[in-house]
Amino acid sequence: MNKLLLMTPGPTFVPEKILRALSKPLVHHREEEFTVLLSNCYEGLKKVFETKNDVFILTGSGTSAMDAAVSNVVNKGDNVLCVVSGKFSSRLKEIVENYGGKPEVVDVEPGGIVNPEKVREKLDKKEFKAVTMVHNNTSTGSVNPVKEVGEIVKEHEALFIVDTVSSLGGDNVEVDKRHIDICFAGSQKCLALPPGLSFITVSEKAWEVIEKKKSKPYYLNLQNYKQKHPQTPFTIAINMIYALNESLNLVFEEGLSNRIKRHQICQEMVREAVKALNLNLFVEDKVASKTVTSVEIPPLTIPQEIEKLNISLKKKRDKALRETLKRYGVLVAKGQSWNVTKDKRVDLFGKIFRIGHMGFIYPRHVLKTISALELTLKELKHEFKEGEGITKAQEILEKNMKHINEI
Ligand SMILES: Cc1ncc(COP(=O)(O)O)c(C=O)c1O
Repeated sequence: MNKLLLMTPGPTFVPEKILRALSKPLVHHREEEFTVLLSNCYEGLKKVFETKNDVFILTGSGTSAMDAAVSNVVNKGDNVLCVVSGKFSSRLKEIVENYGGKPEVVDVEPGGIVNPEKVREKLDKKEFKAVTMVHNNTSTGSVNPVKEVGEIVKEHEALFIVDTVSSLGGDNVEVDKRHIDICFAGSQKCLALPPGLSFITVSEKAWEVIEKKKSKPYYLNLQNYKQKHPQTPFTIAINMIYALNESLNLVFEEGLSNRIKRHQICQEMVREAVKALNLNLFVEDKVASKTVTSVEIPPLTIPQEIEKLNISLKKKRDKALRETLKRYGVLVAKGQSWNVTKDKRVDLFGKIFRIGHMGFIYPRHVLKTISALELTLKELKHEFKEGEGITKAQEILEKNMKHINEI
């Protein structure tokens, strides 16, 4: 069995209870008992999204919900304001283009967050069908000010479409308070399910637009989902619903606010340890994600067997760091790249690595990660004081023990 600790920003470690739920015998999805289970899941999801809006479950990864959010709203020629602050907000822009929309980009420095006033300026000048934005930037580890932007979008015709794929269940999403019209998330992130489901919420304001739209997608037609609710138009991934129900039970057993606090404690442990190890964080503390932390790869002594490979320097740096960490039992994610506009590309591969601390990652997993990181850095001859990272992480855990039910 693979004993590698998944400290990646999704998929992440899946607890036994959820794995067991996946292997339960199948019921027929049109039977009453399954409809009841589905309804329980909708109620649970509404609590995690913090919304009274309709919630739907799609069989498809997070990108299917991105596709649904755009294809149900955007007509050919529609102006859409796309805040591009990472790989997935860039993907939202690409989806807009795919459906013939005209994206206008609000460009955000990698690792930074959007200035809400830039959104206001654009919205005051021109009519936009929607504003698209990612809450928690999985590719950089920064968190956009959804609440502030939501206040601005609310005063305009545009719909507010927000991707909370890597924050739902690990940070406050507050769909209603933040005036989000269409919000979505995926299963393999903070809810710690395997990949394969996504969840999407739709406001009254969004329904008005969706209902008027002439050309509709087929599989992802949200009006069809609304009509069939609480059932689904097509065969849903039945076993994933068992697992979702179990995951939501675990969320409410812990309590959503306790869970978010735990994510924040793990974040603090990681960040303070990283600083103590003489490494640079990619994102400033005040805008840092609770679920993923990006760290700059320092100058390293690359091992001989990697050095002699016929690959680029950035590949060598990434390989040296992440493969050594893997030997010590921990998998972290590589840096990603994306297009901001036709002429501007961001490439963080070989520059950063990303530590996911989402879902059912507890302080004990963080301690193991920091220990593995220290061993890795020592092997690759980075200059730091041995033991300083783990000491910092322990100090933060000690201070916060009262908030942790299980370490
Ligand atoms: C913020 C965000 N949006 C969208 C996606 C795409 O989700 P999926 O890979 O499940 O299609 C991801 C995946 O990492 C993500 O982190």
